[in-house]
Amino acid sequence: MRKKITVIGGGNVGATCALRIADKELADVVLVDVVEGVPQGKALDIQQSGPVQGYDVTITGSNDYAPTAKSDVIIITAGFPRKPGMSRDDLLLANYEVVKTATEQAVAASPDAIIIVVTNPLDAMAQAAYTVSKFPKNRVVGMAGVLDTARFRTFIAKELDVSVENVTAVVMGGHGDTMVPLVRLSNVSGIPLTELLSEEKLKELVERTQNGGAEIVKYLKTGSAYYAPAAAAVEMAESILKDKKKVLPCAAYLEGEYGINGLFVGVPVKLGANGIEKIYELKLSEEETAMLHKSAAAVKELVEVIKSKV
Ligand code: NAI
Ligand code: 2OP
Repeated sequence: MRKKITVIGGGNVGATCALRIADKELADVVLVDVVEGVPQGKALDIQQSGPVQGYDVTITGSNDYAPTAKSDVIIITAGFPRKPGMSRDDLLLANYEVVKTATEQAVAASPDAIIIVVTNPLDAMAQAAYTVSKFPKNRVVGMAGVLDTARFRTFIAKELDVSVENVTAVVMGGHGDTMVPLVRLSNVSGIPLTELLSEEKLKELVERTQNGGAEIVKYLKTGSAYYAPAAAAVEMAESILKDKKKVLPCAAYLEGEYGINGLFVGVPVKLGANGIEKIYELKLSEEETAMLHKSAAAVKELVEVIKSKV
């Protein structure tokens, strides 16, 4: 029997996830959105690409969760963009309500699934899905690090004119401008970055990575990135469904690792059939640890706002 993925939110990221899952023939997809007709229309359109692309998976669009029953993976992309006049906290609380409702309904239909959260602010929304679902911590994971490292790897590869496949990069911390790209642990086929690029150039690439989301928003004006974010979420789903045990940077619930407790923060994890099968604790320098803790503090601030207001 084919695997099944629920994708919640049929907007840019969600629909692109469905398309990438179909192209890989990874699983049947149920695309859920609150807007009537949109998930149905997009699902049918993706389904009709099957004869051309050569896939036989089933893509279903829905406004309710009945067709999502017994999904293996749930990808949550539902949310609102920031609107004029809306404060950061307003957006935080609005997306909290969306993720809360979506999680409640999705896990009722698929109690054994593994949840991948994409909705922003990512780490706080992963924490919300974890709390609401009451799933064990290995079955709730946030997508950010795969995207952030993909951006860093792209910039490094373009700068050096080498294949992106040879570039390995480590980015830790929360998904935001406090994220921590770790130059010391990044390399090109084992060659340390510091031997290939000047300190000044590395600083420039690190800053471009930290502002990678904003750079795209500036171009698009009315939305944010979705091709690379969807590719990242689907890489995580694939590692889970095929039990590939890829080691990927993901937001995971930490209980003491890196001196951080009770919080979702981006760290390297092993993703397999059981979700997060291992959290890797790297030996960080004092400066790197301080940057990671600063990033975790920014996540904690958002989690505290949610706790105080709901
Ligand atoms: P979008 O606006 O294109 O799509 C969001 C969709 O969610 C809309 O179709 C909307 O109708 C739907 N929605 C709203 N409330 C819902 C509910 N209760 N149930 C089901 N669907 C609901 O936005 P886009 O570009 O797809 O982004 C989605 C989210 O992913 C945003 O929060 C964005 O910031 C985040 N994101 C996170 C990334 C990451 O690295 N973690 C990367 C890119 C985007
Ligand atoms: C990004 O990094 C918006 O979080 C999103 O592109």
